[in-house]
Amino acid sequence: MQIPESFAPVAYLGAGVLFILSIGGLTSQESARRGNVLGMIGMAIALGAALLTPGLTGFGIIAGAIGVGAVIGALMATRVAMTSMPQMVGVLNAFVGLAAVLVGFSTYLEHGAELSGGESLVHSLEIYLDIAIGAITFTGSMVAWAKLDGRLSGKPLLIPGRHVLNALMALAIVGLAVPLLLAAPGTGVMWIFIMSIIASILGVHLVLSIGGADMPVVVSLLNSYSGWTAAAAGFMLGNDLLIITGALVGASGAILSAIMCKAMNRSIWNVVFGGFGTDGGAPASTEGPQGEWQEISLEGLVEALEDAQEILIVPGYGMAVAQAQRAVDSFVRKMQDKGARVRFGIHPVAGRLPGHMNVLLAEAGVPYDIVHEMDEVNPDFPKTDVVLVIGANDIVNPSAQTDPGSPIAGMPVLEVWKSELTVVFKRGRGMGYAGVVNPLFFKDKTRMFFGDARDSMEQINAKL
Ligand code: TAP
Repeated sequence: MQIPESFAPVAYLGAGVLFILSIGGLTSQESARRGNVLGMIGMAIALGAALLTPGLTGFGIIAGAIGVGAVIGALMATRVAMTSMPQMVGVLNAFVGLAAVLVGFSTYLEHGAELSGGESLVHSLEIYLDIAIGAITFTGSMVAWAKLDGRLSGKPLLIPGRHVLNALMALAIVGLAVPLLLAAPGTGVMWIFIMSIIASILGVHLVLSIGGADMPVVVSLLNSYSGWTAAAAGFMLGNDLLIITGALVGASGAILSAIMCKAMNRSIWNVVFGGFGTDGGAPASTEGPQGEWQEISLEGLVEALEDAQEILIVPGYGMAVAQAQRAVDSFVRKMQDKGARVRFGIHPVAGRLPGHMNVLLAEAGVPYDIVHEMDEVNPDFPKTDVVLVIGANDIVNPSAQTDPGSPIAGMPVLEVWKSELTVVFKRGRGMGYAGVVNPLFFKDKTRMFFGDARDSMEQINAKL
């Protein structure tokens, strides 16, 4: 069959539009499923158009690669636990980086000698950029994966003079482009090879010097780098779709990283240049204001709930650990049947992933229209009868506002202590991710309800 030459650009444009619509769909829970489907259709069109490229051979190898990749991808996606999602994203970013490096080398070796003059110069530079970002992304993502998976310590590696070392490596990467561009077309592979080793070491060092607490931001940043690598590969291969898709991934990853940094009150430059993170969740200090923890009995809590008209639920990482979302959903329905208004207040970095709580609540079937963002519910706490803090800690810590010396000082928090009664569900006296004391637990209007969040919710549901 003769495929017209204009087919691929049109198909790629269509796929690009679908990818943009897909990201648009992912902005709210209601449309997220549609967004995913649009992205899948876009990717199918892109693959189909690539396979119809005139003159393409080796279909057996391509089919084998797609088959093996599809099986591995499907297995990973179905088996990975929600709590291990950051690691999986880390590994997938690493694959993009490695693919960019391999495609870069093969493009240089295959076509480097064919071009001459300005064309050869631009082509070599595109390849060089692609391999440099790809190598940093590959090794950086592998280290991020190992840290998140507990295979490497979350502690930042802070070698003396690390910033100078990073600067020297960055300079070497830029400098090695000169002999490559001076070399005869197709003969500079040695310079690219040396540069890729240095870029790989830079990727390892950059991420090793970042603490475990900042790792999710780093994964999001590496995701952005993988996009820019793909865009560079698009220029190198003259493929418009790779340029569009790479730019979309690069820009959205960068925006997400900035949002996460803002919500955690971290400077993005501190994260990028390393060494300012904490030990990945180990208690940083047990010092700080101490006080008396007042408990509430099951009967007392149920009585307070029976009388409540306005209830706000603030879920956190502990709800994910306890897998309490379904019990929470049943609770909401019971309270709604009794005539109470029940809503959720979601902090942008509750849990361990962007949107972690939203995904869990959606999975349990909680209606989207009662799930609100922090800024929407913060003014409502003074009018709330009962707040249930389910496995959340740092995101409801008032010292973020009151203690300038606190590691979380300046982080926006949910002001739950302003309500009539705040009940905190946790197992014991464990710290949150930032490892700081939480004065919320000692406040007059706070009561502790100790136990696994799911067991606790089930006990309450049984009593209601
Ligand atoms: P955390 O501050 O980590 O607090 C979780 C609380 O849940 C702990 O106090 C723990 O206390 C309790 N808990 C654990 N398992 C439980 C269970 N089975 N039943 C009941 N309670 C349980 O969580 P958060 O408030 O959601 O804050 C998130 C933190 O993670 C922030 O510091 C944020 O900066 C950080 N972070 C978030 C992200 C994203 S993107 N979401 C990325 C990186 C870091 P006990 O041990 O006493 O039970």
